[in-house]
Amino acid sequence: MTSGRSHSRACALLLLSLTLTMHTLVCFCLAALTLTPPASVQAASPCDSEIFCTGPILQQVQNAKLFDDDKYFVDMKLRAAPDVVSLAFHNLSKEFPNATVPPDRLKGFLSAYFEEPGTEFESWTPPDWHEEPTFLGRIADQQLRDWAKKIHALWKSLGRKMRAGVQDHPELHSLIYAPHPVVVPGGRFREFYYWDSYWVVNGLLLSEMTDTARGMIQNFLHLVNRYGFIPNGGRIYYERRSQPPFLTLMVESYYHATKDKEFLRDALPTLEKEYSFWMRNRSVAVQANGVEHVLNRYHVQVESPRPESYTDDVELAEGLPDALKEQLWMDLHSGAESGWDFSSRWFLDNRTLRHTRTSQIVPSDLNALMCLNEKTLAFFHTVLGDGAASDRYDRAVTRRLAAMESVLWDPGSGAWFDYNLVTNAKNRDFYPSNLAPVWARCYSRPEMGDLAVKYLKGTHALDYHNGVPSSLFESGQQWDFPNAWPPLQHMLIDGLSKLPSEDANALAFTLAQRWIKTNWMAYVKYEAMFEKYDVNGDGKPGGGGEYEVQLGFGWTNGVALQLLNQYGDRLSSGGRSVTFDLLMPLVVSAALAFM
Ligand SMILES: *[C@@H]1O[C@H](CO)[C@@H](O)[C@H](O)[C@H]1NC(C)=O
Ligand SMILES: *[C@@H]1O[C@H](CO)[C@@H](O)[C@H](O)[C@H]1NC(C)=O
Ligand SMILES: *[C@@H]1O[C@H](CO)[C@@H](O)[C@H](O)[C@H]1NC(C)=O
Ligand SMILES: *[C@@H]1O[C@H](CO)[C@@H](O)[C@H](O)[C@H]1NC(C)=O
Repeated sequence: MTSGRSHSRACALLLLSLTLTMHTLVCFCLAALTLTPPASVQAASPCDSEIFCTGPILQQVQNAKLFDDDKYFVDMKLRAAPDVVSLAFHNLSKEFPNATVPPDRLKGFLSAYFEEPGTEFESWTPPDWHEEPTFLGRIADQQLRDWAKKIHALWKSLGRKMRAGVQDHPELHSLIYAPHPVVVPGGRFREFYYWDSYWVVNGLLLSEMTDTARGMIQNFLHLVNRYGFIPNGGRIYYERRSQPPFLTLMVESYYHATKDKEFLRDALPTLEKEYSFWMRNRSVAVQANGVEHVLNRYHVQVESPRPESYTDDVELAEGLPDALKEQLWMDLHSGAESGWDFSSRWFLDNRTLRHTRTSQIVPSDLNALMCLNEKTLAFFHTVLGDGAASDRYDRAVTRRLAAMESVLWDPGSGAWFDYNLVTNAKNRDFYPSNLAPVWARCYSRPEMGDLAVKYLKGTHALDYHNGVPSSLFESGQQWDFPNAWPPLQHMLIDGLSKLPSEDANALAFTLAQRWIKTNWMAYVKYEAMFEKYDVNGDGKPGGGGEYEVQLGFGWTNGVALQLLNQYGDRLSSGGRSVTFDLLMPLVVSAALAFM
């Protein structure tokens, strides 16, 4: 049994030392199980569900390691009301001396009261999908064009629609109801994810699937109106954490594709609500040269293990005093909120996951994104004719630039580094996020862009021909060397391509060509698109972290389509020609005949 602070777990511990004849105390505990826990406890748990987020069922099922992935159990649907399931488990656990149900009985309990994951969806072919979106015609290389067609066709297999039961009986599901069908990342990521959806939406817009893209955006607007922010993904165990805030940029992409001002007018108050959440709940004051600046950080108020990675979190915290366990869990939730789960970026020292202190790092990319949100909100207000509101966001941009340039920008290096609030120092290691302000075009003097290109060329990040790695440090975590991730390639390439210098534009094309080749080679080998790739292999999927590499894959497809659209006239598959493929078997059999 692991230590923890939740009320129901305290009850399980209490039961442990009681005999079954002490009915009154047992009844007291039982009552406590179904009562709302005190506010302090509630704030520290990932959600209110005593089955999926806290409590003895979660704890025992995850500790028993019945499934390869801890996400499996928390994605199951209940066959009976939560209080019936809790009571049944209580009854079952009474049969065992210390209330610990043995694995075979746990399995029986799960099959009686839970359904396998995934039953809450029906597959759904987006009705706005059609064979030949225009952008395909812009791809000169025949093999890349055929491949782009296959990627475009993947939207059909990644479409999901929730069954009516999710709305009618939310208490039976860990899935969060959303009104419109979605395109999911794929693999273990069965539900929608927040920042992934930005690249998915951009891909859908290229594929001329405007209705599907709008539906996904409307889901996110719905979530902001319900929660005040957008949860990390579509499950209740993500209810207290978000992900990098890309909704405003999704709306911008949609607006550029459709010029739909009415949609913009309807969405804008909700976008501002989300912006306020980040400014109220995710900001921090930082002193620099006697001036106080406000910047943003990831900071989740949950101090227990992540339900979907429960045993990883429990094992990682083993041996720590309770207060440090809670702090570590809080910073793991915050790391998950950053989208970079996990990375040496969030390690305070000694470069291991156990030293994760995400909430104490002021991230360069989050602040670049917030700046871009401020610029975009100013633009939206201008489009809708509200000059005063536009000025308000322009002033926020001015303050943001001053803060980023005082705290994150390093003129000697030519990059924006994450700032550590504990050591009051910049992290000078290479991460693609050090150039996020170039992508966001958030800097005050043009020469800063050129300095950043010089910085990039001076790192060893460009030495790899299969993509830019997430860092140059091999920590064993997913968001470090040797993994390269689609959104980071896109932000880097997009930023370089928008700089005025030809040199930067040429580098953008080189990186686009490398990335397309990596994706294409892996596709030829595996007939699949992966969530990440390994910079060391020619077409090798990435690895490391908490789970197996996943296929599908929403943002990979979105980024590949965007690059194929942007550079389609010049990109080359660089691989084997069709004639080579046809002739090769003949050559091989001829050679064999001579042996
Ligand atoms: C649990 O046990 C009580 C008392 O024995 C019984 O009344 C109840 O039906 C049981 N509930 C479930 C769900 O097994
Ligand atoms: C409870 O009992 C099981 C099986 O007898 C044992 O493996 C486990 O360590 C016990 N747990 C505690 C907390 O005593
Ligand atoms: C945001 O802050 C408000 C006010 O401090 C608090 O009540 C709320 O729980 C916070 N929300 C999240 C998700 O952190
Ligand atoms: C970190 O490593 C140093 C040197 O190896 C060691 O002295 C120190 O105790 C370590 N700190 C922690 C918190 O483990």
